[in-house]
Amino acid sequence: MSKNAETLAALIRERAGSGPVEVGLVLGSGLGHLADKVDGVAIPYEQLDGFPHAGVSGHNANLVIGTLGTTRVAVFGGREHYYEAGRADAMRLPLEVLKALGADRLILTNAAGSMRQDIPPGELMQITDHINFSGLNPLIGEKTDARFVPMGGAYDADMAEAFQQIAAREGITLKPGIYAWYSGPSFETPAEIRAIRTLGADAVGMSTVPEVILARFLGLRVAGFSTVTNMAQGLSDEAISHEHTKAMAPLGAEKLEKLVLGYLTRD
Ligand code: HPA
Repeated sequence: MSKNAETLAALIRERAGSGPVEVGLVLGSGLGHLADKVDGVAIPYEQLDGFPHAGVSGHNANLVIGTLGTTRVAVFGGREHYYEAGRADAMRLPLEVLKALGADRLILTNAAGSMRQDIPPGELMQITDHINFSGLNPLIGEKTDARFVPMGGAYDADMAEAFQQIAAREGITLKPGIYAWYSGPSFETPAEIRAIRTLGADAVGMSTVPEVILARFLGLRVAGFSTVTNMAQGLSDEAISHEHTKAMAPLGAEKLEKLVLGYLTRD
């Protein structure tokens, strides 16, 4: 754990109380409303030295610490993507801080393009595994042997099962699938989508995978969800754009919020 993370964790405890955080959440494009439901304290990233400047519209750059459901959480309203500054490890410090605050679990959400006709826009996908199509890695440069992180079971089976049970109870369709990380910021070509599909991916997006690698490096258990905002390039006539992503994300966001709240609320 870096000294910087310990220092920031101490500062956050001073502002938001010292009760240990249990679960961290990273909210993707258009999925930030969950942060408003936390009973707690919002700290702008700019007051947290070394935190990203999440400059992508549709992302809200606050760290919110407090209670959601019955669980003490840390909600990262914005993430820095690789495509913003070429830093695959941009979320390392925030996730180190999460760990330093006591969390053992991380829930990651994103907006994604679907390559499955049975997971159309507005639907959710539970990420059960990923393909690092970018070939980039946030642990490049890490000096310790801890860098050799096993990635089998990176998406925690027990967490996935808990979410499946909540989905069934709430009547929410939550199909499992494989997420492919494409660096962005340009969207994929139709040929790239055919390639990724052939490789076994079900959804594609520009985030999440580096955070999963970092989370496993830090020993956090992970659950990941895609809200499908569009069919991937070439699979429908609909025009793909960031505006479209932001406009479509709320369709799945409501269901995702229900799932996450269900998970964070103990009976
Ligand atoms: N590709 C990559 N990222 C995305 C997409 C997509 O089609 N939709 C939303 N985020």
